[in-house]
Amino acid sequence: MLKEIKKTAAWIQEATKEFKPQVGIILGTGLGDFGDKIEAEHIIDYKDIPGFPVSTVEGHKGRMIFGTIEGKKVVAMQGRFHYYEGYPMTQVTFPVRVMKLLGIEYLFVSNASGGINTSFRTGDLMIITDHINLMPNPLIGPNIAELGPRFPDMHNCYDKDLIQKATAIAEQEGIKLQYGVYVGGTGPTFETQAEYRYFKAIGGDTAGMSTVPEVIVARHMGIPCFGVSVITNCGLSDEIGDHEDVQRQGKKAAVRMEKLFKEMIKAI
Ligand code: HPA
Repeated sequence: MLKEIKKTAAWIQEATKEFKPQVGIILGTGLGDFGDKIEAEHIIDYKDIPGFPVSTVEGHKGRMIFGTIEGKKVVAMQGRFHYYEGYPMTQVTFPVRVMKLLGIEYLFVSNASGGINTSFRTGDLMIITDHINLMPNPLIGPNIAELGPRFPDMHNCYDKDLIQKATAIAEQEGIKLQYGVYVGGTGPTFETQAEYRYFKAIGGDTAGMSTVPEVIVARHMGIPCFGVSVITNCGLSDEIGDHEDVQRQGKKAAVRMEKLFKEMIKAI
């Protein structure tokens, strides 16, 4: 596994003339067009990267963008790999490990989720303060000691300093934020009403199908993580959430999400 990660990282380093990103960004819902804000130096399709899986979900492109935002060097993944697509967890998280070898010092992630905290409204942005993992843990299997410990600490999983920065930026920019715990399930079904109630009972504020595997693997390697979720539907209401809803709410939230991420990158 480690050999594969190193091989892919070395290939990218050669393709990008040793470009060394400081921030890795996974462009999920709300940041779909954020790639256009990057002053791109190199763009590589996943299908051309040895060892990379290929993204299958509608509305997600599959490429890595290397460039600068606010003078900071970033690598952005336009399109992520979900467990529900059928990829093993090692593949879902493979790009995060590669980005670590490329030099990232931070991982920024966006996603869509269904609100189960009844004070949340569709279109809200929620800073992920913690998560509950209901998917298979991506670190199951032999530990890659060169990357991190067998039993990684998951305190401060979503970096408190980064959350504080986001709070200050949101205040300054007049962006309303919610805060909460993201429950990561496998999908691809949205939850039943009973499951939303269960997620709420165990301490969740939103339900989603991504992010948790990537963040676990990043924390294993000691990378500070920052995650923001667009609340695209409210699970406990009678409202039906579907993929079109998710896309529509994602687009509506994009302006705020992009502003927040841009200012965050500037601030670190
Ligand atoms: N559940 C799981 N994932 C989601 C949801 C949801 O309600 N909304 C957007 N992504």
